[in-house]
Amino acid sequence: MKFLAFSVMILAPCVYGFEHQSTTREISPRVVTYYQDVAPILNRQCQTCHQSGALASFLPLDTYQHVKPLAKLIRSVTQSRKMPPFMPDNSGNCATYENARVLSAEEMATLAAWADQGAPEGNWAELPAPQQPNELVGQTHQTAMEEAYTPDKNVHDDYRCFLLNPGVSGTKSLYLTDYLMIPGDDKLVHHVVAYQVTSARAAEEVKAKDLAEAGAGYACFGGAGVSGVRMVMNWAPGTGVVSMPKDTGIRLDPDLPLVFQVHYHVMDANPGSDRTTIKMKMAENVPHEMTPTFLTPLKPLIIPAQKTAHVHEGTVSLQSSFGSGKALKVMGVRAHMHKLGSQMHVSVMNNKKDRCLVDVPRYDFAWQSSYFLNEPVDIMSQDPISIRCVYNSMSKTGTTTWGEGTEDEMCLATVYTIER
Ligand code: HEC
Repeated sequence: MKFLAFSVMILAPCVYGFEHQSTTREISPRVVTYYQDVAPILNRQCQTCHQSGALASFLPLDTYQHVKPLAKLIRSVTQSRKMPPFMPDNSGNCATYENARVLSAEEMATLAAWADQGAPEGNWAELPAPQQPNELVGQTHQTAMEEAYTPDKNVHDDYRCFLLNPGVSGTKSLYLTDYLMIPGDDKLVHHVVAYQVTSARAAEEVKAKDLAEAGAGYACFGGAGVSGVRMVMNWAPGTGVVSMPKDTGIRLDPDLPLVFQVHYHVMDANPGSDRTTIKMKMAENVPHEMTPTFLTPLKPLIIPAQKTAHVHEGTVSLQSSFGSGKALKVMGVRAHMHKLGSQMHVSVMNNKKDRCLVDVPRYDFAWQSSYFLNEPVDIMSQDPISIRCVYNSMSKTGTTTWGEGTEDEMCLATVYTIER
C-alpha cells in the first residue's frame, strides 16, 4: 500500500503536466510562468501605477503573492482593454498613436495563457532585470513648484494652479523636445497641464491671482483661469517621459512664467503635501516648431439637464491661426471636455478625404492626454476640421454651459501641427 501511494504521488504531477501542456498547445507551446513571462509585462505596462506609493497602490502588481489571485481579473481587464487605461481608439479604425499605452496582441495572449494555465510561478532565477525607472536622457532644464502644497482634504478633487519659472532667459526662445513630470506625491497628483503665458500682461494677471489667495498657487479648473496662455505640456499618471515626435519641439519663450495646473485627487483624510518637479530637454532649434492650437465648435455650448447623449458639434479650421493656403501637417491631437463628457471625435477633410484624428469612445476626464499620430496627416490651413462632443447630463438639474469651473463644460480639440 505504501509503495502504491508513493508511485501515485510521483506520477500525478507528470500526468497532470502532460495533459496541461496538450490542452494549452494552441495558445503557447510551453508553460507560461510568472517570473519569466508575466512579471516583465507587469513591470513595463502596469507598475507605473500599480505599486506602493503610486496611483493604484491599493492593487500592487509587483510580487507573485500579490498577482497570483488576480490572474483571471488581469486576463479580463486586459482583454477588454480596460487596462492599461488609454482613451482613444488605437485599433486603426480611426488612427494609431506613437505614444499609445496599449498591450501588444502577444502581451495580451501571454497574460491570458498564464491565467488559463492556473498562474504557474516558475523559477525566480528567470526573472529578467526590471526596467530602470523613468529617466530623461539629455536633460537641460529643471523646475519645481516653489513651495509644497497640501490639497484641500474637504474636497475629493482639488484643482490648483502654480506659477513656475521654466528657466528660459535672455532674448531667444528654446524648444521643448522631451519632458518628465515627477509628482511629489504620486497618489495625489492625478493630472497636470502646463501653459505658458503669452504676454507680460497675462503674466501680471496670473501673478495677481497667485497673490490674492493664501498658500501656494490659486484655485483653477480645466485651464489656467486666465486667457492669454498656450498649452505646452500635459501629463497623467503612468505617462513617463513625454517625447515630441522626431524633429519637432514646442517653443518656450524667455522670461514668461509657466502656469502649472494640477488636479489633486484626494482619497485620504490626511493627504500629504506635493511639490511636483518637471525635468525638461530643450534645444536651441528644431527643424519644425510644433504648434498646439485650441479648436472648438463656434456656436454656444448649451447642455440641457437630463440628457444621456447631448451632441455639440461643429466645423472649424486653422485658417484664423495660420492664414489661408498654408500647408500643414497634423502631428497629434488632444481631446478635452470636463466631467459630463462621454465621447469625442475629431476629423479633418482634406482633398475630399475624411481623415480621422481621434475617436474617444468612453471619455474620462482623469485620463486625458495628447496623442501623437503614427501617420501624420497633411492638410491645408483652410481644411474643415469637424469636432463632435457628446455629454451625459443625467446628473444635472440645470443647464450646463462653457466655462472654467468643475460644474461647467468644454469641447476643446487641441491640434498639434508643423508647417510643411
Ligand atoms: C496609468 C495608470 C495605470 C496603469 C498603467 C495600469 N492601471 Fe490598472 N488600474 C489603475 C487605476 C487607477 C485603477 C482603479 C480604477 C479603475 O478601475 O479604473 C486600476 C484598476 C485595475 C484593476 C482592478 C479592476 C477591477 O475591475 O477591479 C486591475 C485588475 C488592473 N488595474 C490591472 C492592470 C494591469 C494588468 C495593468 C497593466 C497591463 C494595469 N492595470 C495598468 C491604473 C492603472
